[in-house]
Amino acid sequence: MNILLLGSGGREHALAWKIVQSPKIEKLFVAPGNAGTAQVGINVPIATTDFESLKKFALANAINMVVVGPEDPLVQGVYDFFKNDSELKNIPVIGPSKAGAKLEGSKDFAKDFMMRHQIPTAQYLSVTKDSLDQGITFLETMKSPYVLKADGLAAGKGVLIIDGLPEAKKELNAMLNGSFGKAGETVVIEEFLSGIECSVFVMTDGESYKILPEAKDYKRIGEGDTGLNTGGMGAVSPVSFADRTFMKKVEERIVIPTIEGLRSEKIDYKGFIFLGLINVEGEPLVIEYNCRMGDPETEVVMLRIQSDFVDLLEGIAQGNLHEKALVFDARSAVTVMLVSGGYPGNYEKGKVITGLDNVQGSLIFHAGTIEKDGRILTAGGRVIAVSSYGTDKNEALRQSFQNAGIIRFDGKYYRKDIGYDLK
Ligand code: AMP
Ligand code: GLY
Repeated sequence: MNILLLGSGGREHALAWKIVQSPKIEKLFVAPGNAGTAQVGINVPIATTDFESLKKFALANAINMVVVGPEDPLVQGVYDFFKNDSELKNIPVIGPSKAGAKLEGSKDFAKDFMMRHQIPTAQYLSVTKDSLDQGITFLETMKSPYVLKADGLAAGKGVLIIDGLPEAKKELNAMLNGSFGKAGETVVIEEFLSGIECSVFVMTDGESYKILPEAKDYKRIGEGDTGLNTGGMGAVSPVSFADRTFMKKVEERIVIPTIEGLRSEKIDYKGFIFLGLINVEGEPLVIEYNCRMGDPETEVVMLRIQSDFVDLLEGIAQGNLHEKALVFDARSAVTVMLVSGGYPGNYEKGKVITGLDNVQGSLIFHAGTIEKDGRILTAGGRVIAVSSYGTDKNEALRQSFQNAGIIRFDGKYYRKDIGYDLK
């Protein structure tokens, strides 16, 4: 079969790497892709949200399935666009409908959904400009630090954790008056939860589900989880505290009620659900839902799946996921992200990357790269994810760090403490 994969990051390179291992695949196209996806598939210069161009391409190239990497096209309704088009309706899109993508696209919707289905999450109140007074009163009942979340998509920057009540009130006011644009017209005020986070990924055909290997990502730029938030500086799988007991709680209290909830509300959802969880003294609570796989988590999760991934994707599309096998690789997998100097603030692009051919014993997933005149150049903040297997986390990390040293570009930075907080 021919697959069209949407996206251009390390997540998409890792998905592409896994997809082309399937004997079922004939051609893999990636729109728009990067220099790494060009090594395993065929890049197509179409933006992920340019639905009309995707349509033309899909029809002209006998595409049998579309796999969506990032959230934007899902939140904008790429699933519905294909489903409601007479020429496209037989091409399955792996990813939820626009209604399902609201689990990520609207934090207010996600919180309400969790309340309706008794899914454990932080206490909260959603406010708009009209209910600012109630928001202030609610803040006064809570303890510092205060969590304020812009309702809409804000490129991962919509969450503020604030010390002190006066600052929290001021920030709430600013958000409701446009400091986050449209995304902040509604603000979710949340109870602060103290614990350790992990990411759990579920694939569903809308009826049955499979839980993929869990992962922990490292979001801050600095070692010891300090400094600004990034898209993610590395990831580890498995996660030591996500043991059988913890995962059973996740399945019973979160995964099953989520799938059942979507079904009972007649929300069309055939794709991935990313549960951003926090472990509060052994109890899992949902911090956020995403409607897609994580990045850089996918750069370790794909390594830990032995089964034919395209067969699983077909299970999602055809509604027979329960008949499919999902076998985990027992080894540990880690990834270390090489980023541009200055990221997540201002950084330069177009730096020549060398040493890629000297890497041994790791998998290189391109995040922000571009090929020009036979050379590979940096093209983003996150540049290369260096993923490795090991019999344990430490062995895998040694491998990734060694290769992280071999790859060179001007301004390269990476965290040398990925996985430091896990057993
Ligand atoms: P989100 O965009 O919802 O994933 O939030 C970004 C980050 O903010 C999360 O990964 C957490 O580290 C943190 N965060 C969000 N909500 C809470 C909360 N209620 N309590 C503590 N930390 C939180
Ligand atoms: N690694 C977090 C995310 O993909 O949103």
